[in-house]
Amino acid sequence: MRKATIILVFWMGLAAACAQAEVTYAKEVSRILADRCQQCHRPGDIGPMSLLSYDDAVNYAPDIKRVVSGGIMPPWKPSESHGKFKGAFALKPEEKLDLLAWIENATPMGDEADLPPKPEDKGAWVLGEPDLVVKMPVAFVPARGKDVYRCFVVPTGMDADKFVSAIDIVPGNRKIVHHVIVYLDSTGEAEKLDAKDEEPGYDCYGGPGFDLGGSNLLSLLMDGYTLGGWAPGARPELLPKGVGMKLGKSAKIILQVHYYTSARTGEDQTSVGIYFNKEKVEKQLYYLPVVQTRLNIEAGDPASLATTNFPVLPFFEMSVINVFPHMHLLGTKIEVEKQYKGEKEQIILINNWDFNWQGAYTFEQPVRMPANSQLNLRCIFDNSVNNPRNPNNPLKAVKWGEGTEDEMCLAFVGVVFDRF
Ligand code: HEC
Repeated sequence: MRKATIILVFWMGLAAACAQAEVTYAKEVSRILADRCQQCHRPGDIGPMSLLSYDDAVNYAPDIKRVVSGGIMPPWKPSESHGKFKGAFALKPEEKLDLLAWIENATPMGDEADLPPKPEDKGAWVLGEPDLVVKMPVAFVPARGKDVYRCFVVPTGMDADKFVSAIDIVPGNRKIVHHVIVYLDSTGEAEKLDAKDEEPGYDCYGGPGFDLGGSNLLSLLMDGYTLGGWAPGARPELLPKGVGMKLGKSAKIILQVHYYTSARTGEDQTSVGIYFNKEKVEKQLYYLPVVQTRLNIEAGDPASLATTNFPVLPFFEMSVINVFPHMHLLGTKIEVEKQYKGEKEQIILINNWDFNWQGAYTFEQPVRMPANSQLNLRCIFDNSVNNPRNPNNPLKAVKWGEGTEDEMCLAFVGVVFDRF
């Protein structure tokens, strides 16, 4: 009798374990796709196919297996082992295992009663209606078949300086708008470039198309030169309470839009939603460039290294709120490290840099930078024929510059200072 009970308990346990092991669409996979894939893979969005339904997931199962096991999708770039970021949409290790097990197991639906409720439609703006919406003045149709980088000058119509807590982008055409960087210009340079070009906007690649630094770097830092970037799938994040980005009344917004038109093109008229700080702003967010402009990337070098550091002097103690790494097509790896009293901590590492998936990343906890600490930046470039993105054929030595064929080694860090 006792033996029989033990055997029974054993079998029940095994059955429970097996039931647990079977990953179903209804229970796990539908939720994983909703959290990690559907923000891009839905009708009319940037993903090349929709992954909203069970049939979609089954149809694309072999492709999902390939891109998920290869770490290609979802395109969340920062390495999981360094730095925790708000809104991260990387697959957790167990989610990856579940997805692959489900495909291995012939994609069972499971019990439809387990399906998650349909998500509510949040409307165009994730954070709710913005305080100010500005739009590209006229629609633009990028050429089909290549990457197009175009800057558009957008006046704000504001009559007083204000502080901005967050921006969000609503692409006019989600199928082709790949990423957007929002620059500010109070010099009138952007309008001159716009006037020279007959089409709406003007071509620009590594920046807004004019020298941001100019002769007056300090005023640029004080007045702000960017409101951040946007890429598909990213959620806008409000800055911490009491922190704001300055938007001067005379500043023009420059929308730098990357159009991805390999398969299709169309009309686009993208909008920016601006959320002003509601409460008193105690601290301005400053974007500091941690940058190495002396680049000398030899032709053929598969791993050319560029480094620099940014020391924090006494009186300038600060906290890093977000980070925006930037290289061009030869870049393969970029990392930013905090160094303090002999201790080093990688705060962001991107091991498989892809110019098409650059973004600004907001730390879950701001990174404290005491006096005498420093930020170290390291960039690695592959200027060999084995880099499929290498724009130079024949190979050539590459230096710093704004063009597609030039390179950059740069991380903008959004910081607040303790003392001002
Ligand atoms: C941030 C947007 C985004 C997210 C999130 C995303 N994708 Fe993609 N996906 C794309 C884009 C855009 C492409 C087209 C290729 C490219 O640009 O890399 C793509 C391509 C693919 C392809 C390849 C199509 C092909 O045959 O080449 C598959 C499969 C895929 N995604 C599956 C997924 C899965 C599964 C997830 C979630 C685990 C996911 N994607 C998350 C944007 C996204």
